[in-house]
Amino acid sequence: MKAVSLSAYGADPVIADIPEPVIAADEVLVRVGYAALNPLDVKLQQRVMHEVFPLGFPYSPGTDLAGTVVAVGHAVVGDEPGGWREGDRVVARLDPTRGGAFAQFAAVPAAQLVAVPPALDLALAAGLPTAAGTAWQALFEDGGLKAGQTVLVHAGAGGVGSFAIQSARTAGARVIATASGTGLEIARKLGADLVIDHRAERFETMVSDVDLVLDTIGGDTQQRSFGVLRTGGVLLATSAPPDGALAKAHGVAARFVFHSSDARRLGQVVDAVVAGSLAVLVDRQVPLEGVADAFRHQASGRARGKILVSLG
Ligand SMILES: NC(=O)c1ccc[n+]([C@@H]2O[C@H](COP(=O)([O-])OP(=O)(O)OC[C@H]3O[C@@H](n4cnc5c(N)ncnc54)[C@H](OP(=O)(O)O)[C@@H]3O)[C@@H](O)[C@H]2O)c1
Repeated sequence: MKAVSLSAYGADPVIADIPEPVIAADEVLVRVGYAALNPLDVKLQQRVMHEVFPLGFPYSPGTDLAGTVVAVGHAVVGDEPGGWREGDRVVARLDPTRGGAFAQFAAVPAAQLVAVPPALDLALAAGLPTAAGTAWQALFEDGGLKAGQTVLVHAGAGGVGSFAIQSARTAGARVIATASGTGLEIARKLGADLVIDHRAERFETMVSDVDLVLDTIGGDTQQRSFGVLRTGGVLLATSAPPDGALAKAHGVAARFVFHSSDARRLGQVVDAVVAGSLAVLVDRQVPLEGVADAFRHQASGRARGKILVSLG
């Protein structure tokens, strides 16, 4: 089968012919229709995450996929709840160390699969697992966001941020977002009540008494975010671990959000998309042959939503 392959840390992604994966008893073989990039794919390629996710080479990257079941392991039951059958449309997040989403076929643990209802396009479904799952986990599980609270979402036009704006808004929160250029209008349309141009303005001079900050940037943005929180507020960081001493000095809590794959949560995200309260912001969709350029675009940090790769 065709699959994207990395020969070593730092190597460009190339398309290689590799054997189809062999499924274990509790796994399902999925013909991948679409996969989505995440900054994690670039970080793995660049050896940034090697201590958390050590890779073996050649490595086939990619965590987020949607496709069709073509075979099931003998321990996977078709008729019972949680079972799968040939022809089922599914979405999943693969373990980053194992990778393999940018490939024509992927072996996926049955417990990680979520059904894609007919109303949801497979390409859009592929854009959900990591970015929407992280936004959901951060806001509702790690952050405990409640209706009536105010949340500041950094990078509101990015993968995680675009889902966070919509999810927080649906939950009844007041949403402030940072963005720039075309991202300003995108963040507004996604439901932000106030959008701040991070290139032109200092957000900390414009907002205060925020209940939650979703910091997907780190560095200076994170440092300046502590001061906009109310006493007892929470900073949720996805990019860089927050400074505990600084949090204490500001009288706030700070947590690093480490995405944990959870089929139940991904199912809630899928339901929200089908219900119309969550949409997938698509930056671009490219064929498999465009994956090296797609990696470069993701690495630029300027993507507006999800970069989708078609395997068909
Ligand atoms: N810990 C975890 O489990 C976990 C899970 C998911 C993601 N993450 C991390 O979270 C980060 C965000 O992920 P993502 O998928 O949302 O990334 P992304 O889609 O690449 O984010 C791109 C967006 O960031 C915006 N941006 C860049 N610098 C900014 C700044 N200083 N202020 C405001 N916006 C800025 C860009 O807008 P402009 O063009 O306007 O700058 C762009 O729209 C990444 O570091 C990723 O690795 C971690």
